[in-house]
Amino acid sequence: MKKMAPSLSTPMKFLALSMFFISIIYQDNAQFPTPNPNQTTMVFYLQDLAAGPNATVVAPVAGINGRVWSFTTFGSIFVVDFPVTLSISPTSELVGQAQGLLVASALDGASVNVALSIVFNNLQYNGSTLELQGISRRHENYREVSVVSGTGKFRFARGYAVLETAFFDISRSTLRLTITIQTN
Ligand SMILES: *[C@@H]1O[C@H](CO)[C@@H](O)[C@H](O)[C@H]1NC(C)=O
Ligand SMILES: *[C@@H]1O[C@H](CO)[C@@H](O)[C@H](O)[C@H]1NC(C)=O
Ligand SMILES: *[C@@H]1O[C@H](CO)[C@@H](O)[C@H](O)[C@H]1NC(C)=O
Repeated sequence: MKKMAPSLSTPMKFLALSMFFISIIYQDNAQFPTPNPNQTTMVFYLQDLAAGPNATVVAPVAGINGRVWSFTTFGSIFVVDFPVTLSISPTSELVGQAQGLLVASALDGASVNVALSIVFNNLQYNGSTLELQGISRRHENYREVSVVSGTGKFRFARGYAVLETAFFDISRSTLRLTITIQTN
């Protein structure tokens, strides 16, 4: 059987975060639980840059033979490496990289299975990682995945992470990543 070329058409290469996570941007605080003294919340931004020297790497590595390898085609697997910054601007302080897999795991293309390591390289958490895992439903504004564990300063971490579209245009898409973990 002829193997499908492992590449995406140009528009699809870009703004993968949006294609996975796009939703109408609106303010929604209703679903955040009340603050708990035994929990810590950290806010970061995942940057998906379309072009330039720091363009994001998004590579399809596998899919079903004979079908387009896309974010909405069941079975398609992408490897990603997104910069993680402290604020919404892509030129704000870099704290690490979000590296891992995005898998189109719903037959109808409605959701994506996320398996991402947040690999910190800033002064505070250098060398430590947080492991995110879960389902991201493309059409929902509030997309919650698990924080299943961590390494270094985050050993035995557990909690949850919320993904929200914070910025989107033709040049970049930025996701707000709000991580809440137990601290005792
Ligand atoms: C916080 O942790 C302490 C010690 O384990 C516990 O007694 C307390 O109930 C916890 N508070 C909340 C709001 O869960
Ligand atoms: C690319 O990334 C480097 C290192 O983080 C940074 O110094 C530089 O300003 C970035 N370039 C652009 C165009 O954002
Ligand atoms: C992080 O750790 C690496 C390896 O130990 C080191 O080379 C680098 O300078 C450190 N970065 C910061 C910001 O401390």
